[in-house]
Amino acid sequence: MPKPKWLEDAVFYEIYPQSFYDSNGDGIGDIEGIIRKLDYVRDLGCNGIWLNPCFDSPFKDAGYDVRDYKKVAPRYGTNEDLCRLFSEAHKKGIRVILDLVPGHTSEEHEWFIESKKPENNEFSNRYIWTDSWFKRPQGLAFVGGEAERDGAYILNFFKCQPALNYGFLNAKEKWQLPPNHPDCVATREALMDVMRFWLQRGADGFRVDMADSLVKNDDVHKSGTSSVWKTVRAMLDEEFPEAFLVSEWSSPDLSLKAGFHADFLLDHENSGYKSLVRNYKIDWQRRKVVNDVSFFKKDGMHDVTKFLSQYLPWYEKTKNDGYISFITGNHDTPRISLSLDPHELSLAYSVLLTMPGVPFIYYGDEIGMAYIDIPTKEGGYTRTGSRTPMQWSYSALNAGFSTAPPDKLYLPVDTRPNAPSVAAQQAEDSSLLNTVKTLLRLRHTESDLQAIPNFELVNSKDFFDRTARVPFIYKRGKFICAVNPHTRRTTSIISIIGTEKLIPKYKKVFAIGNGTLINGECSMEPQSFGMWKIE
Ligand code: NOJ
Repeated sequence: MPKPKWLEDAVFYEIYPQSFYDSNGDGIGDIEGIIRKLDYVRDLGCNGIWLNPCFDSPFKDAGYDVRDYKKVAPRYGTNEDLCRLFSEAHKKGIRVILDLVPGHTSEEHEWFIESKKPENNEFSNRYIWTDSWFKRPQGLAFVGGEAERDGAYILNFFKCQPALNYGFLNAKEKWQLPPNHPDCVATREALMDVMRFWLQRGADGFRVDMADSLVKNDDVHKSGTSSVWKTVRAMLDEEFPEAFLVSEWSSPDLSLKAGFHADFLLDHENSGYKSLVRNYKIDWQRRKVVNDVSFFKKDGMHDVTKFLSQYLPWYEKTKNDGYISFITGNHDTPRISLSLDPHELSLAYSVLLTMPGVPFIYYGDEIGMAYIDIPTKEGGYTRTGSRTPMQWSYSALNAGFSTAPPDKLYLPVDTRPNAPSVAAQQAEDSSLLNTVKTLLRLRHTESDLQAIPNFELVNSKDFFDRTARVPFIYKRGKFICAVNPHTRRTTSIISIIGTEKLIPKYKKVFAIGNGTLINGECSMEPQSFGMWKIE
């Protein structure tokens, strides 16, 4: 399937609009604020923005409970502001994708208000209802007793988020419609209508929320839900061939075949991503990470093979279909810095940003912003601590996020004495921020380091017999990358798979700490990363 060429060099920055930059001093971030910070995003090296939901909403789930898909929430600005964000971003070479929530709406959406009426109407089947108040849907969360309509309705996530009706695979009950029922087709059409609305106004695509959740009673291959996305992708290929679709699914073998251009690897048990940077438990009572054996921890297990055993089969299977997206974190995960210290972060980012696929940086991760222990806000619960205001400069009020009195902020700013900031890190050559910038500059200048599927593991076979499986060494076209998170020096012979003979000269193009690559032997000092270009 064709995919937009621009994705090859794309690096995205996820912006949580509430917390990025408040341009009007009301204590909450806004679209005008994002426009004013576009130069920052560009200078960081990101040429794409994923904007978390910015639509009209009662905000019981921070905007993932959409009340009107076609209206920007007044607290962020107007539809005109969002269109201006698109055009200003485009002038700077930045694309903007929106957050599309296809599986549910807010209970305050006008479709749902109509759907819950006892009289049959155009929206009666827009959501999933049983046909009697007394009927309890098996295995699906539902609400009964709240509407005049005789029936219970199915939920997709929180209680405020009734599930939209894309039908049931192998429908068993009368109230379960097949996916090709005209009312389920109408839901799909309504979704595409929303997509067209924003794409026609300048959006560059969508991050799709809970993309695997559409058709209920789906099989293990998600064939019902996949068929909805295939229809959507066909529409895009036809009408908006440059638009990008990335899924919250974390199963690239299914999602990319279903039509997504990219899929996030999330912190799920089987994702590989977890064993790299989030292989721990959190004791939420004490807000502490315990049993942390993430690959990049200096005192961890240093075993990259768990990651490889999960990632490589997916990569091999999907490399011609689309891209796997690595993330530094997102608005649902604890900040990556909860487990990794700044040096470990720099090693982790060096790997995450030199892998194939389309990477995403969560705002603030580039400076190592902390997870803050604060009370829940708008359905965030333990996620709230990862959503605090961006720390621009501590010489300004509220770290430069807003001019509102501190007690009027959407969420509190990190006020710990050594909290990182953009201003401080811009001034320091070896800061995390400047490391990210250097890595992204390299990625943009060297096509071998971009999204294309040219990854090769080049550790020799004996590597797998060791207890500490480091350094981890991989090749991307003309580049060899090696990382050693261990506290002692480690060495490995590289074996080059394929036809290329490697007696060549290597030129070091990037390094954190010291490492050497001489005649096929790679020796890495403690906690180092190195990248060499084969000449
Ligand atoms: C996933 C989103 O990332 C999360 O923030 C949200 O609460 C749920 N989906 C429900 O939409």
